[in-house]
Amino acid sequence: MSSPSASAPPALLLEGIVKRFGSAYALRDGQLRVEPGTIHGVVGPNGAGKSTLLRVGSGQLVPDVGTVAVDGVAIALRGPRAALRAGIAMMPQEQTVVPGLTVEENVSLGHEPSRGGVVRRGARRTRVRETLERIGIAIDPRAPIDELTAAEQRMTMLARALYSGARVLVLDEPTAALRREDAERLLDTVTAARDAGTAIVYVSHRFAEIERLCDAVTVLRDGSTVDRLVGVAITADALVRAVVTEGAIDDVADGRRTSSPASDLPTVARLRGITGRELHGVDLDVRAGEIVGVCGLAGSGVTELLEALGGVVGPGAGHVEVDGAVRRFREPHDALRRGIAFLPAERSRAGMLDRPVRENLLVARMDDVAVRGFVTNGRERRAAHPALASFGLADRADDPLGALSGGNRQKVLLGRCVRADARVVVLDDPTVGVDVGARQEIHRSIVALADAGRAVVVAASEVEELAAVADRVVVLVRGRIAAELSGDALTPERLVERVTVEAAAPST
Ligand SMILES: Nc1ncnc2c1ncn2[C@@H]1O[C@H](COP(=O)(O)OP(=O)(O)OP(=O)(O)O)[C@@H](O)[C@H]1O
Ligand SMILES: [Mg+2]
Repeated sequence: MSSPSASAPPALLLEGIVKRFGSAYALRDGQLRVEPGTIHGVVGPNGAGKSTLLRVGSGQLVPDVGTVAVDGVAIALRGPRAALRAGIAMMPQEQTVVPGLTVEENVSLGHEPSRGGVVRRGARRTRVRETLERIGIAIDPRAPIDELTAAEQRMTMLARALYSGARVLVLDEPTAALRREDAERLLDTVTAARDAGTAIVYVSHRFAEIERLCDAVTVLRDGSTVDRLVGVAITADALVRAVVTEGAIDDVADGRRTSSPASDLPTVARLRGITGRELHGVDLDVRAGEIVGVCGLAGSGVTELLEALGGVVGPGAGHVEVDGAVRRFREPHDALRRGIAFLPAERSRAGMLDRPVRENLLVARMDDVAVRGFVTNGRERRAAHPALASFGLADRADDPLGALSGGNRQKVLLGRCVRADARVVVLDDPTVGVDVGARQEIHRSIVALADAGRAVVVAASEVEELAAVADRVVVLVRGRIAAELSGDALTPERLVERVTVEAAAPST
């Protein structure tokens, strides 16, 4: 940790921030004080106002009340460009690459010479390439952004924030959907930026990261800054205590079943010879009542395997059988009709409807809610209530899904899969962006699905989560199943070991 002189003004100071949407308060009293050359964490439950505070601090939202000061000087940040001029760049929580453009166009977006200026392509490409190298990823700046994987697109968003040479970097859950090795690379980049004097604001629900990375932490709850931790006081335990209100702190990570599923239950899903972009002839059987985890490095085929089962991509070769019949899906809704509920890793592809929360939750089972074909709002509310209440969202049933915070949206989409009357439930990173308190609730619902006789297939960006919730985990290496762990052998350490050791071995 660098030691800024005591007299240096904070790089970014937000005081008394109030922000309302309609009549609802997103922020009541947001405070944030970020010293130069430090990494400043921001934590709090889903919907606490973290993203809103960051968006105020980076010019994307104008607060109703409150002041923003940069390097000790009060300033009105009207728009992201004004923030960039003041030296503040933000990497937002949700994917916001511009489709149809190249990687370098996306990275340099917003930094082009103003109207009348000429884009110097050569210089731009060199700078974009340098920025990508700084992050440690090999992406061709000329590649169309749409050809990149979701993780690569996230890294491109980080490159865009770095490209500006900002003195304050605002990162909203940058590692949320990244698997371990990409997350590590991102953390290295962030640390290097701090050591070079940049001030960094860092939101994450992964407290191990916050503990490792941050020099100070601000805790938000219900729209107000309620606590500030500094230095050695920042431990994962202290963060959990600061964020989780109720007595629900016990075994937050552990939802593992005490009893293993009965071994005589029938096989529900059978994958045979699944081959695609990354996969090479994968066979997998999943029995009723079983939770099968899938893990592997980026590019090993984890997402592709779940997508093949979920009906997003038809396998290049091979087939999927459900209850003994070969299934071909044209799209996820088709898969759902055939008994497979799928939650994709990318929330933007999960079929979020621009409709009330209750409707998004129930969409897979509207028939149940309807009487003689009619669905009333009251009936919908009643049907949606238990699931929403279990996530503390009982009062949000009538809001449009888009008005919920990122983590709360994820809970609704997961709830949809849980409520669907599916034989097979496929969940790619079900707790992405979900706060520590609710993660346990999600683990419980996954276990409940299996206990109800569903076949569950789950991937997660954190191996701890797979070890906690799965009955067995298959490890994919370069598109093939290289190992399978269960029982006492199923630990996070063993999973990391299998993933990396097998991957390091020669491929022939
Ligand atoms: N555009 C909007 N319209 C209406 N309400 C909004 C809007 N944006 C945010 N809110 C509300 O403001 C509150 C704070 O949301 P915010 O996104 O800042 O939470 P967060 O702390 O970032 O949560 P998460 O951890 O889930 O990302 C939430 O109750 C949310 O529903
Ligand atoms: Mg947020």
